[in-house]
Amino acid sequence: MNYTLKVVKVKKETSDTITLCFKQPGLKKIKYLPGQYLTLIFRINGRRYIRPYSFSSCPGVDEFLEITVKRMLNGVVSNHINDAVKEGDSIEVLPPMGDFIYESGDSKNIYLWGVGSGITPLISIMKFILTTSNSIVVNLIYGNRSHESTIFADLISDFQINYPTKLTVRHFHTKFVIDRTNPSVIQGRIDFQKASRILSEDEDIQNSAHYVCGPAGLKESVKNALIAKGVELENFYSEDFELVKNPEDFKDIKTQNLAISFNGMHFDLEVAKGRSILEAALESNIELPYSCQTGNCSTCKAKVLAGEVKMIGLSKERNDLSEGEFLLCCSHPLTENVYIEL
Ligand SMILES: Cc1cc2nc3c(=O)[nH]c(=O)nc-3n(C[C@H](O)[C@H](O)[C@H](O)COP(=O)(O)OP(=O)(O)OC[C@H]3O[C@@H](n4cnc5c(N)ncnc54)[C@H](O)[C@@H]3O)c2cc1C
Ligand code: FES
Repeated sequence: MNYTLKVVKVKKETSDTITLCFKQPGLKKIKYLPGQYLTLIFRINGRRYIRPYSFSSCPGVDEFLEITVKRMLNGVVSNHINDAVKEGDSIEVLPPMGDFIYESGDSKNIYLWGVGSGITPLISIMKFILTTSNSIVVNLIYGNRSHESTIFADLISDFQINYPTKLTVRHFHTKFVIDRTNPSVIQGRIDFQKASRILSEDEDIQNSAHYVCGPAGLKESVKNALIAKGVELENFYSEDFELVKNPEDFKDIKTQNLAISFNGMHFDLEVAKGRSILEAALESNIELPYSCQTGNCSTCKAKVLAGEVKMIGLSKERNDLSEGEFLLCCSHPLTENVYIEL
């Protein structure tokens, strides 16, 4: 069931990022876990757009449901939200989703690795741990261009003051200006060497858990640094804001025509090489269901009744899909005469 939420406050975070604060619905409250996301539905210039945004608020800590949106160059929805959404607006949303959630296990040392807008699910997890546990130490490693572009810079400082023994923060800035008042700022990107150095400072690194949200390079650096230190990856969790497509995987893909049966209607569609079946359908105004567009949520699941398709860019194994089931957001036709049913 979809909800309609009212925007009660719009907060400017940085020059290109705002936070929308939504009031909980009067009757059926929205329940969510730190790290999950809310999916917003918009109609812009006659076309429907659906986009997921991680909660930057934390249940039990923040009064409102909050999401924080950074403008993306030429991005339709992120710019619409930054330019046009205002206090008093009502926005349709899907129920919270996502499996990038904090697992309270045996780890006493939690590492949150983020870059740019990737801070959103991490700040929610950080707030949750700091306010609910006395024994867990949180290490936030956060990369940005500069202090000015750092989302939640003041909030993070406040948490450092309030939880001095439970929170360690390392800021990485690529546009570096020496700041003697803030020795926790390190120059450059969070790469393999820097991640390895941070892990080396922890004598109990084998018992740590790692949550990563940022570009593919960040994920690889942290993962490889953990592997090099001999740390098992069973406590490694990551969230992807976009699909990472390897051009090599497209070698056997051609532009193809296919047919879709959806809600009892029949559609013929051309899928250009490089576009997913979902993207091609949306561009033809076929309003298929979707949310994450990263092969995570299963909202776009469909059955392939004829022909062959290939999924490209999935970052996690999906053993839950049955024979013939595919996620259209990362599926590309491999043969002629593909026939899909939803
Ligand atoms: C689980 C999850 C959580 C997320 N949480 C957040 C969050 O907390 N905060 C946040 O800011 N974002 C978050 N995102 C990203 C967010 O959902 C959107 O993807 C983002 O805001 C961009 O949407 P858009 O409509 O502005 O861009 P789009 O219009 O979708 O465009 C995205 C990019 O693709 C390019 N592009 C678009 N169409 C084409 C085309 N035909 N050919 C080539 N290039 C094209 C655009 O130029 C742009 O650079 C999250 C994503 C996921 C999956
Ligand atoms: S839209 Fe989420 S898996 Fe495809």
